[in-house]
Amino acid sequence: MDISVLKGEIQKIDDEALIVNLFEGARPGGATAAVDQALGGAIAQAIDLGDFSGRANQTLLLYGQGRVAANRVLVVGLGAQADFGLEAARQAAATAATTLGQLGVAKASTVLHGAGTGGLDVAAAAQAVAEASFLACYRFDTYRRDKATPPLKKLRVVEFDASRISPARRGVRTGLAIAQGTALARDLGAHPGNTATPSYLARSARQLAKAHGLHCTVFDEAGLKRLKMGALLGVSQGSAEGARFIVLEHNKKAGGRPLVFVGKGVTFDTGGISLKPGQGMEDMKHDMSGAAAVLGAMQTIGALGLKRHVVGLIPAVENMPGSRAVKPGDILTAMSGTTIEIINTDAEGRLILADALCYAKRYKPAAVVDLATLTGACVIALGHHASGLMGNDETLIERLLQAGQTTHERLWQLPLWREYADEMKSDVADLKNTGGRPGGTLTAAGFLSHFAGDMPWAHLDIAGTAWASKDRPYIPRGSVGVGVRLLTQLARDWPARG
Ligand code: BES
Ligand code: MN
Ligand code: ZN
Repeated sequence: MDISVLKGEIQKIDDEALIVNLFEGARPGGATAAVDQALGGAIAQAIDLGDFSGRANQTLLLYGQGRVAANRVLVVGLGAQADFGLEAARQAAATAATTLGQLGVAKASTVLHGAGTGGLDVAAAAQAVAEASFLACYRFDTYRRDKATPPLKKLRVVEFDASRISPARRGVRTGLAIAQGTALARDLGAHPGNTATPSYLARSARQLAKAHGLHCTVFDEAGLKRLKMGALLGVSQGSAEGARFIVLEHNKKAGGRPLVFVGKGVTFDTGGISLKPGQGMEDMKHDMSGAAAVLGAMQTIGALGLKRHVVGLIPAVENMPGSRAVKPGDILTAMSGTTIEIINTDAEGRLILADALCYAKRYKPAAVVDLATLTGACVIALGHHASGLMGNDETLIERLLQAGQTTHERLWQLPLWREYADEMKSDVADLKNTGGRPGGTLTAAGFLSHFAGDMPWAHLDIAGTAWASKDRPYIPRGSVGVGVRLLTQLARDWPARG
């Protein structure tokens, strides 16, 4: 989708459609008032008749009839002004883009929702409009021969005030880079297990590194053996697909302590010998969504040219049963030397993350954040509207919570007490890979904490948020690409000397 900024008066713009807005219970103001006047009061009449109130994501479609240059006018509701913020602006932009796309409209011109009386910063509002319009038009139809209806292709952000043009352009550029990173993560999550294998993730990493000036190193099985990543190799040993460990680095020369992002890359999780039930197993193609988020965020961070050193680490494996597969009772030796008794081969994510966290130590990171579709228990605890957040560093947790608010990729903190970590001790090895059913999300994080050691570290359990079964305004059902916007926000807001 092509998005640009144009200086002008919206009511004079010739296009297939104009997008303006209305706060709930308000009279048309600003650009909406100008369009309403040109239309002879058609918007005001719809309000007076009770046909349109400005309720969040409500739409009113009118026609230009030669009174405005454009063919159509779509008024989108912003909801109550008291509840308004970036998320309402995103949803309004997404609703407008979707509605017009369904009509077969290819090109439209929009106002910046909320940058007037809404009180949003112009660059932030422009970012929100670009991000949400782009993501609302995202489709995954690679494997479909009957392509779905074509989405909106071209959007112009129209702004009258000359002083707002340059922040609007900056916001649109940022929004597009973030949306493209999110779309990459969605694609990777949506591809089936027979496409998106560990080596496919490695190829994608190399490609995006080349396109955005990142440094990329990939370890294959021989490399993994040299690194002594015994936990990762243990998970992978039942699969015909070779494991990979992917390292992406942005702006290495910046110096200072880097931010390190780690993403669980299980390209398909059958459960292994502790085989999962068949019902819904196809969803386990999404078990590399943490990896997808890190790849998407690294692409975005490269595209934005952030000043800071950022590292992305991706342990990538397929978890399969087979005659060589790891078995319950087997003991693996992780890169750190820690021995791990395998109780359940389906608790594989924490094993590959253990070796990745150990690898992260060499960077002496300012902070490490891992993202993983780690536990079914997290879906039970938080449902689909928040990712679980656990960690050992209050500042990092605060910054993540803040980034979650800003991006609406919301997080909810869960406890990481020593008792949970202690529950992961084994009688026959240093650790075991599962606790009991109670607090499954917390014992999983407790297991990881043994490997994070004293690095400032946080763990995001995205099991409930990585894919969706219901459409939302800028998140069509399927792969969400969750985490890209969050990690990018965290990296952009991280203090220069932190
Ligand atoms: N990838 C799954 C977790 C998962 C389940 C994510 C459902 C999203 C939806 C993970 O590898 C797993 O199988 N976890 C087990 C751990 C258990 C064996 C201790 C689980 O949650 O059941
Ligand atoms: Mn599993
Ligand atoms: Zn898994």
